[in-house]
Amino acid sequence: MNSLNRLNKVTIIITLLLTFTVAVSAAYAIYNAYHQKQELVLEQAKNAFEKNLNFRKWVAMHGGVYVFPTEKTQPNPYLKNHPFRDLETTDGKKLTLMNPAYSLREMLENFKGRFDEYGHITSLNPVNPKNHPDKWEEAVLKRFENKEISEYYEIYNYKGEEHLRYMKVLNTEAECFACHETHGYELGDVRGGISITIPMIYYNEKSFQEVQKILFMHLFILLVLYGIIYFFYQRLKNSILEEQKLISQLALKDQMLFKQSKIASLGEMLNNIAHHWRQPLSIISTSASGIKLQREFNTITPDMIDKAMDEIIHTTKYLSQTIEDFTNLIDEHSSKITFNISEYLLNDVQILKANTKCQNIHFIIEVEPNIEVKNYKYAFTKAILYIFNYLQKLYENSLLEPKVLLLQLTRKENEVHIMIKENTNCIDDEAIKKLFEPSITSRYDYQTNNLSLFLASKLISENLNGSINVTHSTLSYENKDYSGVCFKITLPLENKE
Ligand code: HEC
Repeated sequence: MNSLNRLNKVTIIITLLLTFTVAVSAAYAIYNAYHQKQELVLEQAKNAFEKNLNFRKWVAMHGGVYVFPTEKTQPNPYLKNHPFRDLETTDGKKLTLMNPAYSLREMLENFKGRFDEYGHITSLNPVNPKNHPDKWEEAVLKRFENKEISEYYEIYNYKGEEHLRYMKVLNTEAECFACHETHGYELGDVRGGISITIPMIYYNEKSFQEVQKILFMHLFILLVLYGIIYFFYQRLKNSILEEQKLISQLALKDQMLFKQSKIASLGEMLNNIAHHWRQPLSIISTSASGIKLQREFNTITPDMIDKAMDEIIHTTKYLSQTIEDFTNLIDEHSSKITFNISEYLLNDVQILKANTKCQNIHFIIEVEPNIEVKNYKYAFTKAILYIFNYLQKLYENSLLEPKVLLLQLTRKENEVHIMIKENTNCIDDEAIKKLFEPSITSRYDYQTNNLSLFLASKLISENLNGSINVTHSTLSYENKDYSGVCFKITLPLENKE
């Protein structure tokens, strides 16, 4: 998945999560507002009930109150048996007794609350039919009578609008018997109840406004959050796009550089091949023209033809080997791996030992075991084999005995050192300077294959990120010192290039 896709995904997830969180918070706030409204209205209802009850108690406390009868407030017919229902003042003014329920009813009927709440005193067996319960009150009163509950509230649709209705029980107390003893109640019996009905419209409006506020605020928060997300998204997106642009530019440059270097190394290779082919080609051409000339003079013998042909075959083999060697040098398919260089070196020695031409060489092997390096394994083996190849030719052309080869591998800090010593004593000061140069000046050079050393040094310095040098040295073997040269190779433990 590329970075832009990942950014998109993360942004969507963050946006969804934030939206979800804000939505949950809004829902919670709305739910809370609704609940608070209900509680508030209920408190209001209880308060109204308490006020009404207190008023009723106040009247009851006085056993009723006397008022001047008006058209509306006539002497209570249900008190007609009361001995002092109607009184007359000394100056002839009439007074009539108002019992608690009567005065409460009159007050409730004439005065509504601030929010249109109103009350109703009622009973399942009303003395006054006016106090008859409605359906809801009747159901609640029945539950009071069954002692299921002593107060109850409910929000429901009453007369087409939402109302909260609340009712609490009125029990028969001792003082009630003054007027209610004839109605068959006993102490503690449910006498009736007062219901309070509050229209919700006012509160609903309030809470609707509240909900609007909540929604608006959350929407605002959400928009701000979206803005912030968008801002950061754009910034990150731009930086990602820029980075991608840069990367693709770099990749293009790299490709170009790679192509250029490939062309350059191909050119170098062709140059080298051409250089190394000059001598062998002239050998072929000389051999061929020699045969032709002798054929013209009729001096040719089968032996001569064989010799010339052998030379041509041998030289041609060398030509094709040169191509292969150079192609291997720019082989780019391999990659760096960690390998046991000690083992690989010993393997290479094994190859050298197996060669029939090396049977008379005495090997002194001092290899520190199990040294691990991270490098191009193939290039390493190739380089060592090139050096061995050179040494093999050197020993082949030397008449000196004994032929000794010393191989040493040691580890020092972050490097490995390989030392290879020979004892033919046939490389002089002049030759040692040009040992790694791909120059062929004489037929002898070509035969000793000095190209191997050139290739080995190139592999070591360019591919393996190491170094190789050569010095004169002495080699001790069976208590005798022999002169020769020493190749010293230094390689990093880890090739970081
Ligand atoms: C002074 C006489 C008197 C006293 C004391 C009195 N009442 Fe009543 N009460 C009445 C009369 C008369 C009515 C019926 C007519 C009316 O609505 O006024 C009534 C009606 C009621 C009603 C309405 C239902 C109905 O039957 O019409 C309730 C409930 C009630 N009384 C409860 C009580 C309780 C509880 C007590 C004691 C705490 C009590 N009253 C004390 C005279 C009295």
